[in-house]
Amino acid sequence: MRILGIETSCDETAAAVSNAWHEIASSEIYSQVEQHKPYGGVVPEIASRDHVRKLPSIIKRALTKAECAYSDIDALAVTYGPGLASSLLVGFTTAKALSLRIERPLIGVNHLEAHICSLFLGEDVVTPAELCPLLVLLVSGGHTFLIRVEHPGHYQVLGKTYDDAAGEALDKGANLLNLGYPGGPAIENAASGGDPKFIHFPRGLGGKGPANLPAHLDRKLCFSFSGVKTSLLYYLKKNPLQSDEHLRNLAASYQEAVCDALAKRVEGALTSGDFKTFACVGGVAKNKLLRSKLDTLSARLGVGLKLTPMKFCTDNAAMIASTAALRHESGKAYFDPLDIDPNLRVLSW
Ligand code: KG4
Ligand code: ZN
Repeated sequence: MRILGIETSCDETAAAVSNAWHEIASSEIYSQVEQHKPYGGVVPEIASRDHVRKLPSIIKRALTKAECAYSDIDALAVTYGPGLASSLLVGFTTAKALSLRIERPLIGVNHLEAHICSLFLGEDVVTPAELCPLLVLLVSGGHTFLIRVEHPGHYQVLGKTYDDAAGEALDKGANLLNLGYPGGPAIENAASGGDPKFIHFPRGLGGKGPANLPAHLDRKLCFSFSGVKTSLLYYLKKNPLQSDEHLRNLAASYQEAVCDALAKRVEGALTSGDFKTFACVGGVAKNKLLRSKLDTLSARLGVGLKLTPMKFCTDNAAMIASTAALRHESGKAYFDPLDIDPNLRVLSW
């Protein structure tokens, strides 16, 4: 079953070909970072126009690298949400048109589920059965979730952020420190050699939060990152940056606060649930401090940890094609969405 996957939910234009859920024949990504850098964040209008410009050549490159033609493709898979509406539309309409033109079915893929399924990519192949029941920390630029995965297709959200996502907190913090965009890698670089204990930034709400929290969420497993950003803002107002060392210490303290807040909630979930393994996926999963904190946790609690291979942490189309293949191989019917859904949530099937 050969699937052509397409991803354009934010600022990466990506296409990939998978031969099976764990076998990626090609994965091509064009990052728009340089276009958005001058604005300190993603500008939707620029993003969608750039997707229109780049997607045809990225698809062509993915097919060429996989040494196949359109006639060798059995199905198409595309991200239909969540994401920026104008960006999603480019990939979605392209995939719809291709599906009609080459007379192959179209499989709509939830971007959040695809981040979870990125765990099954890479050289070190693991089967879902080896990992589940699995606790997933999903940390990206727009989302922060703790999810229980019973098996692929069965997801239960245990905790989520009340406000900013972890990646967003790093992006905003980097902005305040004039480190540029994207903020995650910029803070990670700037923090190198800095003192993570220089300032104790807040780690979240300590179990508080909105009064009307949905019943399926556990307060202790929810996140809040707006405080850490505001705290840095007020600190900088009183204490403008003085030196490279000052910057290093602030970046290290800020990174420490975000990663500690994430690791603490993961620990809470692991100690109160019966998980076989745990995992971390999404762009922020690239962060070395977070990876090492989770490694330490794994050793301390004796629960196995699976980390998404670095190259599949940030947005890519390999995880889109792979998720579609996994669904096909589970014997589930194709899902051909009628439209994009920019606010799509984590859904079971
Ligand atoms: O998953 P992703 O590519 O896009 C979304 O679905 O949002 O994640 C992007 C996020 C950005 O906020 C970026 O700053 C963060 O991932 N990120 C990192 C690192 N690399 C990317 N955060 C921390 N450390 C990194 N090395
Ligand atoms: Zn993503």
